Amino acid sequence: MKYENATDSHEDFARLDMLWRRGREFLGTETAIMGGAMSWVSERHLVSALSNAGGFGVLACGSMGPDLLAAEIAATRALTSAPFGVNLITMHPELDALIDVCLENRISHVVLAGGLPGAASIKRVKDGGAKVLCFAPALALAKRLARGGADALIVEGAEAGGHIGPVATSVLVQEILPHFDDLPVFVAGGIGRGEAIVSYLEMGAAGVQLGTRFVCANESIAHPNFKKAFIRAAARDAMPTVQIDPQFPVIPVRALGNEGTKQFMQTQRDVVARFHAGALSQSEAQLEIEHYWAGALRRAAIDGDVEYGSLMAGQSVGMVKAEQPMVDIFSELIGQAVRALTERRTAAETS
Ligand SMILES: Cc1cc2nc3c(=O)[nH]c(=O)nc-3n(C[C@H](O)[C@H](O)[C@H](O)COP(=O)(O)O)c2cc1C
Repeated sequence: MKYENATDSHEDFARLDMLWRRGREFLGTETAIMGGAMSWVSERHLVSALSNAGGFGVLACGSMGPDLLAAEIAATRALTSAPFGVNLITMHPELDALIDVCLENRISHVVLAGGLPGAASIKRVKDGGAKVLCFAPALALAKRLARGGADALIVEGAEAGGHIGPVATSVLVQEILPHFDDLPVFVAGGIGRGEAIVSYLEMGAAGVQLGTRFVCANESIAHPNFKKAFIRAAARDAMPTVQIDPQFPVIPVRALGNEGTKQFMQTQRDVVARFHAGALSQSEAQLEIEHYWAGALRRAAIDGDVEYGSLMAGQSVGMVKAEQPMVDIFSELIGQAVRALTERRTAAETS
């Protein structure tokens, strides 16, 4: 393995290899570390860097149409010969056409995200010969997705960056992992170090998915201001969006607080007041709230407006300390994982 070095124990590298073998075999990679798709950030450069480092990069299709996606796949292929996947948002109006682009381009793994995928979408991917990964936000849904043909599950807890559910990774894994011996399950949300990777593998995960930890890779095209905000931030700065009125639901997104977050609170207050004054209908008010963040991630991650854009980040942002080459991030994660295994082994040998 390329990350094995002389100071660490060969025996413990072999144990790590064994612990994530199912995940490695499923992905066709050297490590079972997936790079979670991040809109705007997970494009050709970051994805190829992840796959070249021995992980599994996943392109974020986001709102791209079929032609743009095909071009991005081709551009990524030009930068890596290693496998990578594509993340598609299930509510995209051209979902079927996007699936077909993945299949025509022999993408081996498709991640269906942003809501529960329909049986027809899962079937379309599988019939085309690719594997399907789905997000499982609760045990009942995990079972339904498994019955529906998902080839693997991603269990992502509330510590993650971006759109989140209400339950912590530590709880979701206890609820879900014991029920899936055969189906590979990848754990995401709040992972910043190798020790955590080992713990989830020992609990039965096939592998892990990280997003936040990779944003500040040298190869990431995220704007320098966006990276600086990550490097400065502590775990507590990555907060879910706050909803002020249950009548107007807000999809929780974990992000670093900034002027945009404060203004969002004020916008909600104003919109709710205008609704109660009869100036807006309920649906107009809801739409105004939902539109507030439209385009905001691009504004921060690409244009560098970290005051008013959306700084989506997980709690593991506190462990992002510098801009680093992707291979160095992998070396750190794997070194920490191996040393955790060494400590367990030596503790057992001396007791
Ligand atoms: C900036 C950012 C953008 C993201 N965009 C998406 C997305 O477009 N689709 C998706 O499925 N997940 C998205 N995610 C979630 C990641 O794919 C990944 O699952 C998550 O970051 C893992 O948790 P972590 O941030 O604690 O490592 C995003 C996360 C971040 C930080």
